[in-house]
Order: sequence, then C-alpha cells, then structure tokens
Amino acid sequence: MNAKDKFQNDLKQKLRERYEKGLMRTLVHRGDKIDFSSNDYFGLSSSPAYLFLDKNNRSGATGSRSISGNMNEAEEAEYIIAEYHNQESALIFNSGYAANVGLFSCIASKGETYISDEYIHASIIDGMRLSHANRLKFKHNDLLDLEHKLRQTIGRKFVAVESIYSMDGDAAPLIEIAALCNEYDALLIVDEAHATGVFGERGEGLVCQFELESEVLACVYTYGKAAGIHGAAVVGSNILRDHLINNARSFVFSTALPPHTYEQIKTAYTLFPALDREFLFDLILHFRNTASNLKSLVFLDSFSPIQGIIIGDNFKAKALANYLSDKGFFIRAILSPTVPVGRERLRICLHTFNTKSQIDDLLNEIKSFLS
Ligand SMILES: Cc1ncc(COP(=O)(O)O)c(C=O)c1O
Repeated sequence: MNAKDKFQNDLKQKLRERYEKGLMRTLVHRGDKIDFSSNDYFGLSSSPAYLFLDKNNRSGATGSRSISGNMNEAEEAEYIIAEYHNQESALIFNSGYAANVGLFSCIASKGETYISDEYIHASIIDGMRLSHANRLKFKHNDLLDLEHKLRQTIGRKFVAVESIYSMDGDAAPLIEIAALCNEYDALLIVDEAHATGVFGERGEGLVCQFELESEVLACVYTYGKAAGIHGAAVVGSNILRDHLINNARSFVFSTALPPHTYEQIKTAYTLFPALDREFLFDLILHFRNTASNLKSLVFLDSFSPIQGIIIGDNFKAKALANYLSDKGFFIRAILSPTVPVGRERLRICLHTFNTKSQIDDLLNEIKSFLS
C-alpha cells in the first residue's frame, strides 16, 4: 500500500469511529422543507434589496485589503458600522470566524490571560489558541466563577463572552460582567453574532442597548446571520483597528470580500431599523408558551430566536431530527462534543417567515415522537 492509500485508510478508520459514535457530519440540502434551522431570522438572505451589480462591474477584490483589495465600498461600510454601534471605527473581515480568529490571535500576548465563558464559540477558542496567552474558562454565565477567575489572574486579562449564545440562545449578563471587568481591570470583548439585527431598538445589539459601548474593548458583529449575507466587523477604537490591520493574520493574509458584499453590508444597515423584531419576539413567545404545556420535555431557557429541546443523547437527537425531516421540517440536531455530553439537543431557530401554526405542528410532531 502506498503512502496515500495508507493515509486514506487511516482517515477512513477515524471517520468510521465518528460514525459509530453517531457523530458523523454530513452535508444535507434543505430543499423545500420548513426552515427551523437557519440563522436567517428575518429571511433577508433572499431580500431583493441585496440584488444588484457592483457599480464598476467588479466581482473580485483582487487581493488582500493591505495589498490591492482595499476599496471605497469597504471603508464606507466600516464608517456606517462604527457609527451604528457607537464606536470610533470598524474593520470588516471575511466572516465571523475570520474576525474572531484574527482578533483573539493578536490582542493578548505571552503572560497575559484570556478568560472566556465555557460555551464560547469555536472561532474564539481557535483565535485564543493561536495567541501565546494563558487561557481560563468560567462556568457559563456564572458571575461568581468569573470573579474567582479574575481574582486569581495576575497581569493583563481579557474577558470574552457572546451577548447571545449560539447553541443555547440565552444572553450573557452583560451589565454585571462589564462591572466585574471594571472592578478587576479586565478588557471585555463581546461577540454579538446572534444579536446583530435582532436586539436593540434598531438591531444594534445588546452592548448598545445596555449603553455599554465605553465598557468594551471590542464587539464583533456578523452579517451571515440576521443580515442574511456574509462577512463580519470588529468594532472598537481607531488604535485597535490599526493594530488589527497590522497583526490580525486572517485579515492580512486573505483576499478581501468582493465589492458587492460591502454594498450588501451597507444595505443591511438600511434594513436593520425596520426589521419586524416585534413579530419575531411574538413568535418566540408563542413557541415558549406552547412549549411550556409539554411538561415532560426540557426546553432551553432562551428568549432569543434560538430555541431548543434537550434530548441528552446523540442518536436520539439525530433520530428526532430525521423524523422531523420526514414530516417536512428542516431542523438539525446538535451533538456532543459540540455541546456538553448530556446536553445534546434539537436546535430550533425561529424566523419571521415561520407561522404560529407551523410552530404548533412542529411541537406536536416532537411530542408524538418523544411520547
Ligand atoms: C457566536 C458566533 N460567533 C461567530 C460565528 C462565526 O460567524 P460566521 O458564520 O460569519 O463565520 C458564529 C457562527 O456560527 C457564531 O455563532
């Protein structure tokens, strides 16, 4: 057997082990099933407002922003983003993943410490791993544990949280976390991926809603979720922006987004104020009220569009997702180790294009599968 065949055999074995544990990831099509899975909370991914060609008929950036890929459209979008979120400046990355990896890999140095919520997104974990800083976790949303970690850390410290957690849909106690960061001289970074467009009077996120702009070092806003497009921005001071332009490797060493994406991001900010958040929250309330009648089921404690039912077993969670797919619902199971063992779940995302009767039908099907 040659080296390539041997290597592929090893991969096959690893994949078989994954499969046997019920952890095999496969790519599926949504088809015409009812979407209870995507992060497209307002259906903007198919908004006609985004359909236009770039003024200069350019489809590509031609290089990284530092070489040949910078353009007016990017800087105009960044100006709008910074103003919308009440900060000095913004820097757009190709995705939320790239933004977090770039940011967290280059802000803390050797001898300094990241303290992050245990449920923090993989992109932040990967970014922190690329830095030479120490890493500590605190228990999810647990202020006492955060304070304990802050107290035991010497040197400069950075605290990383999500304003709305991507798998649990719950919110970080941002006001209290900001106060602790103040007390212990820690720098706070908030990933607002699932709050962008959704929370705040104009969809400006929870940091602005709670008027914590001056309390944070940086916020990350992403455009692949409620905005329905692509890209992300790190928002903070001018100095931080200059630092990222010089040191965030996912920014420096990657071809920039194409011009039309910046135009779409600018358009997203014109759409945010009028999004029907009231209806979205009405649907969330309907889901939660109806779910509360299903006494034997454990639902996530969330008031965001990310809802879910804890199943507590990878195979059962997958079987339920498959059953619902056969009934016409597009919903994905979230398995361990993505979530802790015993917290395997069905992640249910609500959107303004869902109806109350679709929610009722979905919950009835879940009930009949589990009873
Ligand atoms: C909290 C959080 N941060 C960052 C990301 C990454 O964003 P993107 O999908 O734009 O790469 C995600 C997406 O899963 C997320 O949920």
